[in-house]
Amino acid sequence: MIADGRQIYADQCAACHGVDLEGQPEWRRPPPSGRLPAPPHDESGHTWHHPDELLFRIVKESTASIVGGGYESDMPGFAGVMSDAEIRAVLD
Ligand code: HEC
Repeated sequence: MIADGRQIYADQCAACHGVDLEGQPEWRRPPPSGRLPAPPHDESGHTWHHPDELLFRIVKESTASIVGGGYESDMPGFAGVMSDAEIRAVLD
């Protein structure tokens, strides 16, 4: 599960969240587009503050659909790209 998740992360997530989970530079400061940069997934970010079920829904459905209200986000949903088991593997 961990090995599968590591590979999925490298293929699907690292381009934005960084090969070492470090996130995008200046991730706390929104660029002129107003959309937030990709946060790190290591201990310096806030991913670990969120319950597993919420993280699962963010990855499956996208941040914009979870926040709602016309919120715009560069975090895509991976429903149709990844199975539920693959989403759980990458989170693990
Ligand atoms: C195209 C760039 C991009 C890709 C690819 C991407 N993300 Fe994201 N991700 C983002 C951005 C940007 C945010 C912040 C969104 C916001 O808050 O508006 C985010 C937020 C998140 C969050 C919420 C983190 C938090 O601390 O609140 C999780 C979890 C997440 N991404 C997981 C993943 C996973 C797992 C993958 C790969 C399957 C992935 N992301 C691929 C751009 C991306």
